[in-house]
Amino acid sequence: MKQLYIETYGCQMNFADSEVVASILSDEYRLCQTAQEADVILLNTCSIRENAEQRVLKRLEELRALRKKGKSLKIGLIGCMASRYQDNWVESHLVDFIAGPDSYRFLPEILSDAEAPQIRTELSTDETYSGIIPMRYQTNGISAFVSIMRGCNNFCTYCVVPYTRGRERSRNPEDILQEIRTLCEKGYKEVTLLGQNVNSYLWGGGYGFPQLMADVAKTGHEMRVRFTTSHPKDLSDELLETMAAHPNICKNIHLPAQSGSSEVLKRMNRKYTREDYLERIGSIRRILPEATISTDLISGFCGETPQDHEATLSLMREARFDYAFMFKYSERSGTYAAKHLKDDVPDEVKTARLEEVIALQRELSYESHRRDIGKTFEVLAEGPSKRSDEHFFGRNSQNKVIVFPKEGTQPGQLLNVTVNNCTTATLLGKITR
Ligand code: SAH
Ligand code: SF4
Ligand code: F3S
Repeated sequence: MKQLYIETYGCQMNFADSEVVASILSDEYRLCQTAQEADVILLNTCSIRENAEQRVLKRLEELRALRKKGKSLKIGLIGCMASRYQDNWVESHLVDFIAGPDSYRFLPEILSDAEAPQIRTELSTDETYSGIIPMRYQTNGISAFVSIMRGCNNFCTYCVVPYTRGRERSRNPEDILQEIRTLCEKGYKEVTLLGQNVNSYLWGGGYGFPQLMADVAKTGHEMRVRFTTSHPKDLSDELLETMAAHPNICKNIHLPAQSGSSEVLKRMNRKYTREDYLERIGSIRRILPEATISTDLISGFCGETPQDHEATLSLMREARFDYAFMFKYSERSGTYAAKHLKDDVPDEVKTARLEEVIALQRELSYESHRRDIGKTFEVLAEGPSKRSDEHFFGRNSQNKVIVFPKEGTQPGQLLNVTVNNCTTATLLGKITR
């Protein structure tokens, strides 16, 4: 059998897709661990920010060295960058073929038939890879990702995803629930449902995300269930109530704010104001008082003033985010912002604002961790901690990492751990019986 090596960049959806790709190619290819052994190398790529694309182009230059005389090595570009490819990447033999996020079913043909088109980047309105069982080669056997939808219709003005992944479409709930059953049978302990905006999941007119979550929680009652990402404009109280009703639905909501200024949010086409966002935070605190809230923030978007930046800092304090992913705005060609808005915040200013945002979040995360000291959480043990063999790490329902003395713990075990100390990044605790 020929050998296939896949390298994955970007978000969890790409990781889930790599498992679909491995499955599509599994009749002809066996996965291998290094690029050196491979007959086919696939880079599953991300376009979200300039540096994500630069990293992949650099990696492709490195991989050129593996093209030796006499050996037939094929290098393919898949994922979001495939939707933005440039002709010279193929002409200059940087890559041999390109397959976009909706073209993975063509991969066997692309690889076996030199006459077949080697660039397939058309986006589909209905491809959800129904019938393909992902080959779960990247997991620890404890947690798995399941895509519940593909694409995005929101067109936030800064974002490439609607262009790289195409229109939003939901997967058949029967397929999703079947995958959940299989994961349970295989002994998985945790599943994360994935979509760019899970709250707009819709099947057959009336079956929405709260219904799906309830069915997944029941079907996978022996597993923990997580989901990401929620768009603030669509997060409903009905979903929060469903989360409250099912103990195995984890109490963490990832709710990207992007900015705390209504003016900036308007230019971003986020479709909510600062007040709307804080109103949603209020609902979460009321219905799910034990939940953590995490977010994404962008510093230095087009036209962002010092006051807008201050508004982001004050939103962070008001929402008391438990953790956050924070980025500098990176202009992406083809987006509305690139075409119509001026990227007018100087890079040094973006950097300085981002640093302030990161420093504030560090304080907020630390305070959030301090509030947990003395509490006991149910923790899913994942494996040995990085710092010491004598310690294990796991996560609580709130998605916080807890490190604790091993004491015979096995990966996949659920334990009660009492927090007795913390750093900015982790909670430290002790198993309580
Ligand atoms: N669908 C999710 C986000 C997916 S992209 C949502 O809407 O919340 C993940 C994060 O990358 C975004 O939340 C945003 O904070 C960031 N991002 C997207 N485009 C960006 C850009 N052009 N520059 C900087 N950050 C960006
Ligand atoms: Fe991008 Fe906005 Fe869609 Fe998220 S919701 S993927 S930020 S366009
Ligand atoms: Fe990147 Fe595409 Fe995900 S641009 S963040 S890999 S949807």
